[in-house]
Amino acid sequence: MANVIVIGAQWGDEGKGKITDLLSKSADVVVRYQGGVNAGHTVVVKDQTFKLHLIPSGILYPETECIIGSGTVIDPKELIAELDKVEALNVSSKNLFISQTAHITMPYHRMIDQAAEERRGNKKIGTTKRGIGPTYADKSERTGIRVVDMMDTDEFAEQLKWTIDYKNVVLEKLYDLQPLDHKEVLDEYVAYADRLRSHVTDSALHIYNAAQQKKNILFEGAQGTLLDLDHGTYPYVTSSNPVAGGACIGSGVGPTTIDRVIGVAKAYTTRVGEGPFPTELDDEVGNMICEVGAEFGTTTGRRRRCGWFDGVISRYAVRINGLDCLAITKLDVLDGLDEIKVCVAYELDGERCTEMPGSARQFGRCKPIYEKMPGWKESTEHCRTLEDLPKAALDYLEFLAKLTEAPIAIVSLGASRDQTIIVEDPIHGPKRALLKENTSAFKVA
Ligand code: IMP
Ligand code: MG
Repeated sequence: MANVIVIGAQWGDEGKGKITDLLSKSADVVVRYQGGVNAGHTVVVKDQTFKLHLIPSGILYPETECIIGSGTVIDPKELIAELDKVEALNVSSKNLFISQTAHITMPYHRMIDQAAEERRGNKKIGTTKRGIGPTYADKSERTGIRVVDMMDTDEFAEQLKWTIDYKNVVLEKLYDLQPLDHKEVLDEYVAYADRLRSHVTDSALHIYNAAQQKKNILFEGAQGTLLDLDHGTYPYVTSSNPVAGGACIGSGVGPTTIDRVIGVAKAYTTRVGEGPFPTELDDEVGNMICEVGAEFGTTTGRRRRCGWFDGVISRYAVRINGLDCLAITKLDVLDGLDEIKVCVAYELDGERCTEMPGSARQFGRCKPIYEKMPGWKESTEHCRTLEDLPKAALDYLEFLAKLTEAPIAIVSLGASRDQTIIVEDPIHGPKRALLKENTSAFKVA
């Protein structure tokens, strides 16, 4: 195979779980490189639904090694709950490895995430309140606690004493919250450390060795490009780097290790949480997409905001991630529509623009400029090849490929593994940089 990164090309929830699950079949190692339990992946195998937050989807394949890399943040309580759930389904966790240098989410992180959101009032970000931002903030501030720290009880006790004293000042003085008891937190986390110890490793070395042995490594992004701390719609973003570049930092491999980058985008757009969203639909069509697409958060259960496919942000994602190809998911959700719109540019203060503005304020003023396409008004759920698709659906996909300047390698038409059209081998097909003109309907003209 090759070493492949799979990322979200929109605001998360693109269906990466299903695509990584499909690709995991030929992967020896699957690596999560950023984010934490804010993420949620839903994978459907036969009639069983798996909801995973931290553990890579690859865990469902018995021989696949799954790594939670150093760029992630780990809430040990949630991870253990997930391990219990996986094991209860008779799925082994012996191939789960946790980076010793990943940062740990502590009880004060969750408390501060909640309290900070309340304090922001109408400027709130709409976080998942899982303590993600505060955990990464402490990492940057160099007051974070890492997996390796938690494994050495004496060191940990000392470090925690200092940290809890400091955080109690913040909790009490800034947020008017109850202080935490050092001993209680220590006992709780020492128990977590004992449970997780056998999984902890030097994950960057583990990945390096796998690459040396020519094993196939799949890097699984969480969230999406537009939620990236550096390249997303700041400040309405998450606190990590979901973009492809984040895979190198968050797993400790050099860029030369990566062979290919695959982006996942829905056939429409969704967003959960606050922040600008030009193609958002506040009408019947938006409601229909939400209902048919079951657009409710895996982690928080929140209703996702729904809208038309946004060609500007998707093309941006192709560029920022250096995508080789796209996987388009949930095409079937559009089956019932008479007409489908695609945003090809924005109007900003009377001017046409084809790039996302740098400021969230300006982005909030962008009005979508649409092209209309006819719907296909028939079910596509059963389609397994491009030839099975109605002509209008094929035209729609071709339009998206041209607009985003990326070939479409996979089309997904439902949650099950078999509801998938493999247009072209996403791993061995031609790389975008090498594409010739008009080589197929799905390639860039
Ligand atoms: P946080 O990651 O909890 O700090 O939330 C920051 C922003 O990212 C909010 O808008 C969340 O709704 C969004 N977010 C975080 N994780 C996910 C995800 O897995 N899917 C979609 N949105 C997410
Ligand atoms: Mg999700």
